[in-house]
Amino acid sequence: MNNFIERNIGLMIVLTILAVSFGGFVEIVPLMAQRTVTEPIDGLKPLTPLQLEGRDIYIREGCTVCHSQMIRPLRAEVERYGHYSVAGELVYDHPFVFGSKRTGPDLARVGGLYSDDWHRAHLFDPRSVVPGSNMPTYAWLFERPIKLENLPKKLVALQTLGVPYTDEDIANATTGLENSTEADAVIAYLQQLGTLITERR
Ligand code: HEC
Repeated sequence: MNNFIERNIGLMIVLTILAVSFGGFVEIVPLMAQRTVTEPIDGLKPLTPLQLEGRDIYIREGCTVCHSQMIRPLRAEVERYGHYSVAGELVYDHPFVFGSKRTGPDLARVGGLYSDDWHRAHLFDPRSVVPGSNMPTYAWLFERPIKLENLPKKLVALQTLGVPYTDEDIANATTGLENSTEADAVIAYLQQLGTLITERR
């Protein structure tokens, strides 16, 4: 029988695909139904419009190239960064920004770790607060106002993906943000990261 399969490359391919799909099926499908993976953890709220804009700038500027947002359940990581990341914290994230490279530290629980002023100084010139840092400067974020006209559309797009923004949130998306810069947005985003689970470093 083995001989027969190994000599029939077409059959071998079909059976290999079947075996691999079965493996994927039993690993992935039960996860989709598991509450801990699909349900938000207590207190999880969608990002505010300013935080959401910050997240988009975080993606645009390639922060994900040097920073992960995924604390693995390993002792070394938990001791350094705090409680490991759980799926329920991330159910409103579209797309995920896990990242895969850590030139700089993981940022999954950086919220509240530093003051807004520290972040301002750090983004403007990382070396002013961390002398040996090789993080690039992001001084232009301080000169650029955020694009208000896009915000309601971004909320609508996320609403269609199941993020629970209300119609009122959408109507008020730009309220109070007239003078906000891109730096304000990035800092607002950073300051909420991982703050629902407070067990940390
Ligand atoms: C070329 C790689 C690189 C890029 C791109 C980068 N960083 Fe960093 N980042 C670092 C390094 C290295 C450190 C550690 C030294 C320091 O604190 O400056 C760091 C530190 C940080 C810290 C402090 C983390 C902590 O726990 O102390 C924050 C916050 C941060 N970066 C945010 C950002 C944001 C926001 C962006 C995008 C606008 C960004 N970084 C882009 C390399 C990078």
